[in-house]
Amino acid sequence: MVARIQTVAFEGADARRVDVQVQVTSATKHRFNIVGLADKAVAESRERVWSAFNALGLHLPGKRITINLAPADLPKEGAHYDLPIALGLMAAIGAVPADAIEGFVAIGELSLDGTIAPVPGALPAGVLANSENLGLICPEPNGAEAAWAGDMPLLAPQNLIQLMNHFKGTQVLSRPEPGEMLEKGDGYDLRDVRGQETAKRAIEIAAAGGHNLLMVGPPGSGKSMLAARLPGLLPALTAKELLDVSMVHSIAGLLDRGQLSRARPFRAPHHSASMAAMVGGGARAKPGEASLAHRGVLFLDELPEFTAQVLDSLRQPLETGEISVARVNAHVTYPARFQLIAAMNPCRCGTGGADGVACRRGERCAADYQARVSGPFMDRLDIQIDVPAVTPADLALPPSKEGTKEVSDRVARARAVQLERNGGVTNAELPQNRLDHVAAPDSDGQKLLVQAAETLGLTARGYHRVIKVARTLADLDGSENVHRIHIAESLSHRRANKGLSRPQKSTYYVK
Ligand SMILES: Nc1ncnc2c1ncn2[C@@H]1O[C@H](COP(=O)(O)OP(=O)(O)OP(=O)(O)O)[C@@H](O)[C@H]1O
Ligand SMILES: [Mg+2]
Ligand SMILES: [Zn+2]
Repeated sequence: MVARIQTVAFEGADARRVDVQVQVTSATKHRFNIVGLADKAVAESRERVWSAFNALGLHLPGKRITINLAPADLPKEGAHYDLPIALGLMAAIGAVPADAIEGFVAIGELSLDGTIAPVPGALPAGVLANSENLGLICPEPNGAEAAWAGDMPLLAPQNLIQLMNHFKGTQVLSRPEPGEMLEKGDGYDLRDVRGQETAKRAIEIAAAGGHNLLMVGPPGSGKSMLAARLPGLLPALTAKELLDVSMVHSIAGLLDRGQLSRARPFRAPHHSASMAAMVGGGARAKPGEASLAHRGVLFLDELPEFTAQVLDSLRQPLETGEISVARVNAHVTYPARFQLIAAMNPCRCGTGGADGVACRRGERCAADYQARVSGPFMDRLDIQIDVPAVTPADLALPPSKEGTKEVSDRVARARAVQLERNGGVTNAELPQNRLDHVAAPDSDGQKLLVQAAETLGLTARGYHRVIKVARTLADLDGSENVHRIHIAESLSHRRANKGLSRPQKSTYYVK
C-alpha cells in the first residue's frame, strides 16, 4: 500500500506543499530509496529514520521501501523531511493509522534515539497547513512558534513514541500555546544624546519617511549612539508586517521559544560580513542580514570597511525590496525591504576634515577612504549628514526637553498621514511616477530645486530623493503641500552632488 502525508519545501520565505508517498513491499533484499530531487541532508534521512525505528523496536526485515517526494521538480533541502518520512513509513506498516496522518503536514528532524529535534520554518509551515485546512505536526520546541499560524490542529511531540501513543489514543498531546508577544520596548532614549541637533533632526526625518541615512563624523561623535536610537522612533510593526518579518526569522531559525516582537528589526552586521551572510544563500539557502532587517533597519557601521562586493549586492534590494540569490538549480527570492543607516569616519585615521581637527596624511586620506564606497551606492542614501565632534560644552548641557517619546509621536503622525495618502507605502518607497501626484513642490520650491540640481549636479535619482525627503518634511510639518522651505531643508541634508563632499582644505594640517 501507499501511505501519504504532507510536508513542505521552502522557497524564499514561503512554504510550498510537498507530498510524501511511502510504499513498502516485500522483497528478498532490503532496499530504502528516496526519490524526488532531494539534497544530501534529505538522503541522509534514511539513516536517521532507520536508527529511530530500531530505537522504537520497529523492525523492517526484508522490505523494499520507496519514498517519493512530489512534485519532483521542487528542490528539497534540509533535515525536516525525517519526521514525515518516518510517519509515512509508520503508517505503511500499520504502526499508526494511515487515515489519521493523511490530513497533516509534518516537519521535524529525528535524532538516532527517536527524539524529534527542532527545525527552522515552523511558522510558514503552519501558515500553509492552516490555509489548506490541514493540521501540523512539528517538534515540541517549535510548538509555540507554530501556534501563531492559526487554529489548525497542532501536535508538537518530543519524540516518536509520544506521537505513536497519541494516534493509538493512549496519550493525548495538547495543543501548545503561542509564544510571548514582545511589544515595542523603550530601548535607548534620544534624550541621552547631547547637542547634535542636526543629526537628531536627520534621524527623525529618516524615521518619519523611512529614508536611508548616512552619518559622517569623527570617532566618538555619537554616530553609533544615534543609530541605536532609531528603532525607538519607528512605529511598531503592523499585523501584516509582523507576520512577514516573523516568517523570515522563522526560516532563519531565529524565533526563540516562539517569541514574536512588534519592534522593528535592527540588524548591525560587522564589516567583515561575507556576501552570503549579508544577502543570504550559502550551502543551505538561508536569509541574510538584509532579509533579517526586512521592515526594519540595516545598520552598516564603518561603511567603507565593508567589501565593495558586499555593498554592491545591497543595491538591488535597496531599489526593489527583494534579494534574489542564485542556487544550484534555481533562484530563491527573499524579502529585503529595509531602511539603511550607515556611519563612517571622514578618513581612515578618523579625524580628517572634522572641525579643525587635523589629519596628518592630508587630503588624499579622506578622498581615498570615501572612494571605497561607490557612487551608485552613495546615490541611494537619501539623507547624508556631517556629525561633528561633540564639544565639552555640549556634553555639559542638560538633557534636551525632547526624548524618544516626543519625537516618536511626531514620527507616528507623519507616517499615518503618508501611508493614508500614498496608498500604504512610506515616502521613501514612493514609486517615481507617483511623486508628481503626491509630492509636487509649489512653484517656488520647484524653482529652487531646478537651480540646486544644476549647481549640485544631482542625478535623476538624487533629484527624486530630494523631493521624497521634502515630502516627509512637509508631513512632519502637517503641511498638505511641499513648499520651498521643505525643498531647502531637504537639500541641506544632502552633503553634496556625488555623495560625499571633500572637507574644506583649510581644516587640514599638512606636514
Ligand atoms: N552627543 C553625545 N552625547 C552624549 N554622549 C556622547 C555623544 N557622542 C558620543 N557620546 C559618548 O561617546 C561614546 C561613543 O560614541 P559613539 O560610539 O556613538 O561614537 P561614533 O561616532 O560611533 O564613533 P566611531 O566613529 O568611533 O564609531 C558614546 O557611547 C557616548 O558615551
Ligand atoms: Mg561607531
Ligand atoms: Zn586621515
